[in-house]
Amino acid sequence: MALFSANKPAPALDRSLRRLPQHVGIIMDGNGRWAQKRGLPRSAGHTVGAQNFKKITRYCASIGIRYLTVYAFSTENWKRSEEEVGALMRLFQQYLEESLRDFLDEDIKVRFIGDTTAFSPRLQKLIEETREVCKNRTGMVLNIAMNYGGRAEIVHAVQQLCEKVQRGELAPNEVTEQQIADHLYTAGQPDPDLIIRPSGEMRVSNFLLWQSAYTEYVVSDILWPDFTPEDLEKALDDYCLRHRRFGGVEESR
Ligand code: IPE
Ligand code: IPE
Ligand code: MG
Repeated sequence: MALFSANKPAPALDRSLRRLPQHVGIIMDGNGRWAQKRGLPRSAGHTVGAQNFKKITRYCASIGIRYLTVYAFSTENWKRSEEEVGALMRLFQQYLEESLRDFLDEDIKVRFIGDTTAFSPRLQKLIEETREVCKNRTGMVLNIAMNYGGRAEIVHAVQQLCEKVQRGELAPNEVTEQQIADHLYTAGQPDPDLIIRPSGEMRVSNFLLWQSAYTEYVVSDILWPDFTPEDLEKALDDYCLRHRRFGGVEESR
């Protein structure tokens, strides 16, 4: 029986033999604090955070992660100052313009989860163009959560199901867990195996509420702009040592 407690260091892992998670989620948090620590405006943290997003995305694709979901902007982030929201919108636009150009040769299938109709027409057009360019790709699926909230996503799914019931296409007792999952933005994708939250906050902040019922969490104190591929590797090592039971009894190892 091998048990590793917090005060007993885990033995070194052979990373080539590791069981990689299929689907990783990242709450890209800590940009504001990163900037404040340097006496910079919060928007400077978002700029460096966006650069890091590209680096970590490419790294995940290179090691064979199949699905990556990144939390870029929540339904609650509109509460921030007009200046900060404006800076974030400009960054999203710049990122999508660049990614249409730079990621052309990369086999990453970019998708968007969240209510994108709230964005400017220019940003919505870029979102549409990106979707179109990526639609036949077969590499890693990258879900960018923008104006995303787990509760809003469930409400949206329930509304669609109610409409089907109203049209007589579905009976109320045919509304199952599978039906709800099939009406989420992530329909057809596996649930996240691992969610990483940089910046030390120990909360979910409305991210993938339905999908994370049995997700493993790794919280890191590193702020997102400083989070490196090696920090990601450490989170993957940590994930490998978890014993997932899904409410059942673990099989002997
Ligand atoms: C995450 O960083 C980016 C967004 C929420 C858009 P924050 O801006 O939340 O950074 P902190 O948590 O204030 O440091
Ligand atoms: C979660 O971070 C949202 C994103 C990283 C996009 P927040 O900074 O908004 O979360 P709270 O407010 O600390 O819970
Ligand atoms: Mg934050």
